[in-house]
Amino acid sequence: SASATLGPLVGAIDQGTSSTRFLVFNAKTAELLSHHQVEIQQKFPKEGWVEQDAKEILQSVHECVERTCEKLKQLNIDITNIKAIGVSNQRETTVVWDKTTGEPLYNAIVWLDLRTQSTVERLLNRIPGKNKSFFKPRTGLPLSTYFSAVKLRWLLDNVEEIKQAVDDGRAMFGTIDSWLIWSLTGGRNGGVHCTDVTNASRTMLFNIHSLEWDPELCQFFDIPVEMLPKVRSSSEIYGLMKSGALTGVPISGCLGDQSAALVGQMCFRDGQAKNTYGTGCFLLCNTGPKSVFSEHGLLTTVAYQLGRDKPVYYALEGSVAIAGAVVRWLRDNLGIVKSSQEVEKLAAEVGTSYGCYFVPAFSGLYAPYWEPSARGIICGLTQFTNKNHIAFAALEAVCFQTREILDAMNKDCGIPLSQLQVDGGMTNNKVLMQLQADILCIPVVKPSMPETTALGAAMAAGAAEGVGIWSLDPGDLTAVTCERFEPQINPEESEYRYARWKKAVLKSMGWETS
Ligand code: G3P
Repeated sequence: SASATLGPLVGAIDQGTSSTRFLVFNAKTAELLSHHQVEIQQKFPKEGWVEQDAKEILQSVHECVERTCEKLKQLNIDITNIKAIGVSNQRETTVVWDKTTGEPLYNAIVWLDLRTQSTVERLLNRIPGKNKSFFKPRTGLPLSTYFSAVKLRWLLDNVEEIKQAVDDGRAMFGTIDSWLIWSLTGGRNGGVHCTDVTNASRTMLFNIHSLEWDPELCQFFDIPVEMLPKVRSSSEIYGLMKSGALTGVPISGCLGDQSAALVGQMCFRDGQAKNTYGTGCFLLCNTGPKSVFSEHGLLTTVAYQLGRDKPVYYALEGSVAIAGAVVRWLRDNLGIVKSSQEVEKLAAEVGTSYGCYFVPAFSGLYAPYWEPSARGIICGLTQFTNKNHIAFAALEAVCFQTREILDAMNKDCGIPLSQLQVDGGMTNNKVLMQLQADILCIPVVKPSMPETTALGAAMAAGAAEGVGIWSLDPGDLTAVTCERFEPQINPEESEYRYARWKKAVLKSMGWETS
């Protein structure tokens, strides 16, 4: 049979902001055998609020696992060859659930959500000099609406059911990885409450040097430490699947999606970087086993720890909140395209924004500005501007934002990147990729297997002690590139457009004051 020659397989749950996927890889060749994807509903109950239903997310995982297994059976592939499962997830998104019922006590508050702007202001007042970066040496992060601690603070302040559950000792906190692993390993019947070092490093409660929940931070945010998950490495057996077609298979890998992509792109060496274009856009550069602190608005984050006794690797990260989300906005809010793919066609038809600039600061601006008061603007409009130009400007905005974080990265690292390794859904858009090379003035390279996030999670799962079907010897692993985009416009033109973009960014700031 096909299975006999295939050998062991590894599955990966990729729970992103926009969709959930389950993918199965051949461990020997890293070839993708089958997958299934389900879109996740976003709720915008108030301006600036972004929520998701944690139950729907869990349901989507079950559905993707079952459907992928059915597809494998149709291909005559024996699903008992799936020996391990890895989890990669949208980071920071915050869930609180009741451990006695297994039910979430509120919708998941998505990382993009801005409701905590006033919570952040209030907390800042308690920090010497109102210094946003006060906890940066310990957490790698500035105080911002982005990270889980402030979201959890908001839930504890505003949701009666959660306050009650905390008082009764029934409340559990987790990012999406924790919620999924707890639920999949049995939930209220013995589910394992854990997270990994990469996800923990996005909460702002985690000390990235001692690799423990920080008692002082828990005190500052007034978070009961009992409700936090146990922090584990990114590659070890956390527990076994308790239901469905893959019952009994160990879950043995866990990485925040951006870390997973770094691993999947084989960026194991100091100075290797990747940029992932999902809902947002995240450039991570491996800094090796030492944490490097940015002077230019980047975050310091845990990149991965591939085993309990393995060293922890760190990364510098440039985070952009809105990338693919701007295309979704053109589709769902403006209705100027029916599908995300159509944006490429619209943009290609004109090949220019005709002087129109679009700053999609829907959730304020993240790196390098960290300005929650920014709001989106479209400027430079004339009678001539049409939807094609706006589509082009939206794609160009993704590229300009990447240029800003790449510039910051180059300044912090000293050695400029000579090319950009990319991945993520939006990299199928060739107009975007060419534009990116033009705006960065360096080549953009895309791996032949674009599912790097899932591959990274699968690799972590397959390499875990007790699974051991994947050896992660960096010496053996190098990314194979397939597509390469060379800069085609002259650097002066690129600089001119970038300068105009920066002018537009200035206009977007200070719009909303809380
Ligand atoms: O920090 C948020 C990030 O993990 C979300 O990733 O791919 O869903 O945009 P993505």
